[in-house]
Amino acid sequence: MRVTINDIAKMANVSKASVSRVINNKSEGVGKETRDRILKVIEEHQFQPSMLARGLVTKRTKTIGLIIPDITNPFFPQLVRGAEDYASKYGYNIFLGNTDKSVNKEKEYLSAFVEKSVDGVILTSNISEADSQYKLLKQSGTPCVLLDRYVKYEDYEVGVYLDNVKGAYMATELLLSHGHTNIAFIAGPLMVATSTNRIAGFKKAHTEKGLPINPDLIVEGDYMMDSGYRLVDRLIEEGKKFTAIVAGNDMMAIGAMKALKRRGIKIPNEIEIVGFDNIEMSQIVEPALSTIAQPAYEMGAQGAKMLINILEKKKLKNKNVILEPELILRGSTITKEQL
Ligand code: RIB
Repeated sequence: MRVTINDIAKMANVSKASVSRVINNKSEGVGKETRDRILKVIEEHQFQPSMLARGLVTKRTKTIGLIIPDITNPFFPQLVRGAEDYASKYGYNIFLGNTDKSVNKEKEYLSAFVEKSVDGVILTSNISEADSQYKLLKQSGTPCVLLDRYVKYEDYEVGVYLDNVKGAYMATELLLSHGHTNIAFIAGPLMVATSTNRIAGFKKAHTEKGLPINPDLIVEGDYMMDSGYRLVDRLIEEGKKFTAIVAGNDMMAIGAMKALKRRGIKIPNEIEIVGFDNIEMSQIVEPALSTIAQPAYEMGAQGAKMLINILEKKKLKNKNVILEPELILRGSTITKEQL
């Protein structure tokens, strides 16, 4: 329930004007005892006065805060472009926040966007279980659309996602159909929903074929290239036996390929590998990477559309839009003829 200046005034038994003076650090007309009482009520209810509440802006700002976890990963600029192209068609400006995968930076950006009174927020989060920052969004009445990564928060979650279970299932099923029974899975950070969903798809493909899953071959990366390199190198150093790899994203797949090639391991004849995202780099590595394509641009555009519909009080057909993955076959997996 959003706490307003009126609520604070009632709870502190003062006028709305006194609360507004305290919020705006104006000392005249408010005694110390009253000021302390107002500040105590604000603190107790985590009241976050937006610029709108502080009277610093008097109408919608036609701005949207867009938060992404890693601007260095080519997947996200595509997402941003889709959102920005759609938003600008409807006269909205996008403020971009890059959190570098930090939950604290995510909270800082959410607070800043609420304080600056953006009309709404589009968020690709670093967590899958909601934290205090979601209370802040709700209390300030700032609509939020989740992109890419589902976050559980009461009935608040509205978002655009890929069917990640299906995507990882498709990648794994391809390799199982090539006869592999020891497939390594390099997951993204386990506190992110896309990582756990993709592990679920990897396991589902095995279970449906009655094949065992070796938990030692499921390792946690961080969606960055170096973790793919280090994890594959470590698996080989530890003597783990595997003949194929599914990577939770292309960046880790490309890092894994580098580790294999450094050891003279032939891709795909000795080890096949499938990535996830279909970033441009997946086409230029050698051999080109088979991968699961995500419509990142479309995801961003759909997210902006959903938020603008909410802002313009249009009824949403669905609270969640689920986009389809697509298997892209390239040189890092063998062809049917080579089977
Ligand atoms: O490459 C970054 C990954 O994080 C993508 O697969 C995207 O789905 C996001 O979750």
